[in-house]
Amino acid sequence: MAIALTIAGCSDAGRPMTTLAPKSDLAQWIQNLFIDVTLWDALVLAIVVVAFVLALFVFSTRVGEAAPPSTASSDLGLEIAWTLGPVLILLMISVPTIRTIFRSQPAVAPAGALEIKVVAHQWWWEFDYPDGAKTGNELHIPVNRPIRLSLESADIIHSFWVPQLGGKRDVVPGQINELTFVATVPGMYPGQCAEFCGLSHANMRFRTFVDSPDDFAKWDREQLAGPVPTPASDQLAADGAKVFADSPCTTCHMIQGVSKGYIGPDLTHFGGRTTLAAGVLKNTPENVAKWIENPQEIKPGANMPALLLPGDKLNALVAYLESLK
Ligand code: CUA
Repeated sequence: MAIALTIAGCSDAGRPMTTLAPKSDLAQWIQNLFIDVTLWDALVLAIVVVAFVLALFVFSTRVGEAAPPSTASSDLGLEIAWTLGPVLILLMISVPTIRTIFRSQPAVAPAGALEIKVVAHQWWWEFDYPDGAKTGNELHIPVNRPIRLSLESADIIHSFWVPQLGGKRDVVPGQINELTFVATVPGMYPGQCAEFCGLSHANMRFRTFVDSPDDFAKWDREQLAGPVPTPASDQLAADGAKVFADSPCTTCHMIQGVSKGYIGPDLTHFGGRTTLAAGVLKNTPENVAKWIENPQEIKPGANMPALLLPGDKLNALVAYLESLK
């Protein structure tokens, strides 16, 4: 009881991965089902506890009393009662469960849905929008509009999970799974790969930003445009652009109009993201430098090699990347 009360005392802000603070229709349905099932479970528990106490203190045989009656005979009424009871309770649980499963997994996208392709990679998330916008590890969606995610894997099985927006959905190679929901409250909701997928499974995080329609439209416009040109006054960033162009970064990373790599995340608007390395680090110049210097230390097993750049080139590259708003 003490542990339960302590845990229940945690605030919403302190547990961003809570499954008990629904911010979408899907999460709300799951919550309703959870409460439903918990109530039926509580009823079963209450009946069992009462029967147990009665058996212990009321119907037990005491010293000096006659031996208990024979167990060879049976009571037909009781037999029927304890067969029908569990059947009814199972029905009360399974009917809403099956209804929720079908309701939450429509075969076709709802009218007006925004369909986004999600590609899971070891160990980061790619988000491709129907208008051509592309981002990594930070998904933006508009509030109060149906969202249809098509989930694909580039390598092995992952699982897409934003606890406050809905249940987990496996991402399986060679198959497209879908997740359909309407986010109802603007905000930032963290997500995490929920299927063990190798060394950096725990470092395969992402963020979902539920934006107002205007904010989303603005974000989308910015993503479609190329990177903001480096201001001529920013010599460091201009030097960094040269470092990037001459480096092996270009083989793996796309920057619109600069490079065509596709193995790692698209960096066209890297400076506009709040995190890097699949949500592991806050996007600050210090962290970007740390990441480029030794990605393996932050994300063991990642494909990205250490670049071994001298300090001045590293600083310039960091300034360039951060300028890519
Ligand atoms: Cu991807 Cu665990």
